[in-house]
Amino acid sequence: MLVRVKLYRNHESLFKEFDLVLEPSHTVLDLLYTLKEKYDPTLSFRSMCRAGICGTCGVKVNAKPVLACKTKIAELEEPITIEPLDNLPLIKDLVVDHSVLIERLKRLKVWYEPIGNNLQVFRTNPLVDKSFECIACGLCDASCPVFLTNQEFGGPMSFLRIYKLTQDLRNSRREDSLLRVKDGHVQLCTHCKNCSIICPLGLMPESIIKFEEVDLTKRGLISQNLPNSFDFF
Ligand code: FES
Repeated sequence: MLVRVKLYRNHESLFKEFDLVLEPSHTVLDLLYTLKEKYDPTLSFRSMCRAGICGTCGVKVNAKPVLACKTKIAELEEPITIEPLDNLPLIKDLVVDHSVLIERLKRLKVWYEPIGNNLQVFRTNPLVDKSFECIACGLCDASCPVFLTNQEFGGPMSFLRIYKLTQDLRNSRREDSLLRVKDGHVQLCTHCKNCSIICPLGLMPESIIKFEEVDLTKRGLISQNLPNSFDFF
């Protein structure tokens, strides 16, 4: 099939148009490799696993953050417009700086500090399970409107991943993890649900944020927050 593509090239700060012959089963990542191999070897994008696991191939396709390797071209409207993710510093073409995501995880200390005997079996519930499944692709943070005005916000990715630390009895600092959620200004969340809509694993970070807000409210650490309406998509 013949596919029309509009691709962002940052060294010229413009979109370049291409017509490519591709198979309907091809993904956006296949499309990018075809462009690089046949037309422009200077094109830069990021990928590793090609299987929706490593979380590195995030791009904006037709204005929506997606994993390039999990997005079939046959399901997209033409022209297929491909741009770098929002809310992350641009390095080149479609490559953005993921260290911003890592810094957010560091700031909220999203890691275990196990209790002495941490070999006990932890009974999870579906929501905690979701917190374990995050692949740190950052699409949720890239879709979050709060970052347009506030870089101190912890972001849906960190809030999702820290949830398991607030629940897991094997973590020695569960209370501290919850306080970190407060320090990450969780109340700035507008509950627009962008993060839940675009998460490629369906992990619903916005729902997790609500649970964290309830936990903090019960402890008197934050006051009741009324969600704003801030629809993005
Ligand atoms: Fe690993 Fe797409 S290349 S998630």
